[in-house]
Amino acid sequence: MQTNDTTALKNKRILVTGSAGFIGFHLTKALLSEGANVIGIDNLNDYYEPALKQARLDELDKFHASISAPAKSRDSDDASDAATQNSETVVNKNSAVSAPTSDLSAPTSVIPVPTSVIPAQAGIQSVSKTSPEYQFIKMDLADRAAIESLFKTHHFDIVVNLAAQAGVRYSLENPHAYVDSNLIGFVNILEGCRHAKVGHLVYASSSSVYGMNIKQPFSTEDRVDYPISLYAATKKANELMAHTYSHLYGIPTTGLRFFTVYGPWGRPDMAYYKFTKAILEDKPIDIYNHGQMKRDFTYIDDIVDGILRVMVKPPQLESDTSSTTTATSAPNIVIPAPTPDTLAPNSVIPAPNSVIPAQAGIHDDKNNRHCEERSDAAIQSNQENRHCEERSDVAIQSNHSGNKITNAQAPYKIYNIGNNQPVTLRHFITAIENACGKKAIENSLPMQAGDVPITYADIDDLMADTGFKPTTSIDSGIARFAEWYKLFYTDNQSQNKTSLNSDITE
Ligand SMILES: NC(=O)c1ccc[n+]([C@@H]2O[C@H](COP(=O)([O-])OP(=O)(O)OC[C@H]3O[C@@H](n4cnc5c(N)ncnc54)[C@H](O)[C@@H]3O)[C@@H](O)[C@H]2O)c1
Repeated sequence: MQTNDTTALKNKRILVTGSAGFIGFHLTKALLSEGANVIGIDNLNDYYEPALKQARLDELDKFHASISAPAKSRDSDDASDAATQNSETVVNKNSAVSAPTSDLSAPTSVIPVPTSVIPAQAGIQSVSKTSPEYQFIKMDLADRAAIESLFKTHHFDIVVNLAAQAGVRYSLENPHAYVDSNLIGFVNILEGCRHAKVGHLVYASSSSVYGMNIKQPFSTEDRVDYPISLYAATKKANELMAHTYSHLYGIPTTGLRFFTVYGPWGRPDMAYYKFTKAILEDKPIDIYNHGQMKRDFTYIDDIVDGILRVMVKPPQLESDTSSTTTATSAPNIVIPAPTPDTLAPNSVIPAPNSVIPAQAGIHDDKNNRHCEERSDAAIQSNQENRHCEERSDVAIQSNHSGNKITNAQAPYKIYNIGNNQPVTLRHFITAIENACGKKAIENSLPMQAGDVPITYADIDDLMADTGFKPTTSIDSGIARFAEWYKLFYTDNQSQNKTSLNSDITE
C-alpha cells in the first residue's frame, strides 16, 4: 500500500472472495504483505482458463511460503518491507493515507484466523494447506449453506467481495451465471456480514453501471438507472442491495466501480490480453474508428493500492441521530438533480425518500398494496410518488422502532476507481506493439453502434477521502503485462486458448 500506515491491516481477519481471480489474487498477495490474515474463496469456474486461476493460487501459496519465515517476526517493520519488496505491489512509504476512522483502527486482533475446516457437506470442495495467515477454500458464493457456515466458523473484520460473473458479452450467452453469482451470491455475502457484524464490506461494482451515460468524466453523482447489459444491471443491483443492508443493519459498505483493470496475471477475456495474444501470433485484431476512442485503463497495482486504502476507511454515518427524528435527517449520499443528458425521455425522477418527512397515518393494507403496485407500474405523477415513498418510510420506521437504525442515513459509499487519464485505443495498441516487439495486423472497422468516443472516471472523491493516486502509465503497465504474458505461456508451456473475438469488456 502506498502509505506510511502499513499497520492498519496487520492481523486483521479478512475474507477475499474471488481470490483466484485477477484482482482477488493481487489483493490477497498485497494483504499478506501487509501482515493481514486472509481467507480466500473462489469456485474456480471455467468462464476462462481454470488453469490460470490454479496458477494464481499456486503463486499465492509460494508467495505465502516465501514470507512466512519473516512473517513469524512480522512485528519488525524490516520483515514487512522485505516481504513487500517481493510483491508486485509497489510500496511507496512517502504518500499518506487517512487513518482509519472506525473500530477497525482499534488495536489489531491477536486472534488468528481459525483454521478449522468447514464441514464438507456445507459445499466446500477443497481447502488449501491451512495456516493462521492464509487459507484458500474452494466455495461457491451461491451456496448459501457453505457461506453461512463460513461466517459462523470464522470472524472477519473486513470482507472484500470480488467474486462475480464478469464480462459484458457473456451475459447475453449465460444470464443465469450472473444471477447466481452476482445476485444470489451477493445476498449470501450481505447476510453473512449482517449476522457476523462484519466491520466493513468492500465490494466490486463496475464502470458498466454508467450504461448510456454520455457526460464525462463519469461521476458517482451521475444517474445510473439505464444499464445496457445484465452484467451492469447486477452490479447496479449490488449497490442497491448494499445500501439497503447499510441502512437497515448499519453495515458499513463501500462499492468500487472499477474502470478496465489490466496487468500481469490478468483476464484472458479482456481486450489487452487478446490483442497481446493476437500480435504475438501474427493474427489480425479488429480496430474500430481508427482507434480514436479514449478509455480509462487502470493498472492492477494502482487498483490494489486503492482497495487497501478503502478497506481501512469504512464509511461512517454523518451523525448519530436517534430513530425518532431520522426520517427528516439528510442522507449521506446525494441524489443529484437530473440533467438533460442523463434523463431518458418519459422517465420520472422520484424524490429521494430520505428528504420526505415521515407522516403518521395511512396504515391500511389497501393503501400499502396500492403503493406496491405504483412502484411496479410506470409512475407518472410526482404527487403519487411522494405518497408512496412516504408509505415506505412509515413501514420502515415501524419495523425498527426502538433501535438506532435510521431510514435516512446509511454508512454507505460508492467510489469510482480508475486512472482518470483516458488514452486512445491507438496509443493502447501501440503500447502493446512496443511491448511485444511486433506490429499488429489491423482489421479497420467503423465505430460500432452504441459506442461512445470517450469514457473515463472522475476519481476526486476517492483521492480526497483516501489519498488514492494512480501512478502507472499505460506504457509501463502494458510492458509489465506483456513481460509476464510471455513468461507465463512459455514457462507453463500451456496454450492460451482464448478466442480472439474481442471487445473492451469488464
Ligand atoms: N477487471 C476489470 O477490469 C473489472 C472491471 C469492472 C469490474 N470488475 C469486477 O471486479 C471483480 C473482480 O474482477 P476480476 O477482473 O478479478 O475478474 P475474475 O473473473 O478474474 O475474478 C472473479 C473470480 O470470481 C470467481 N467467481 C465467480 N463466480 C463465483 C461464485 N459464484 N463463487 C465463488 N467464486 C466465483 C471466479 O472464478 C473468478 O476467479 C468482479 O466482481 C468484476 O465484476 C472488474
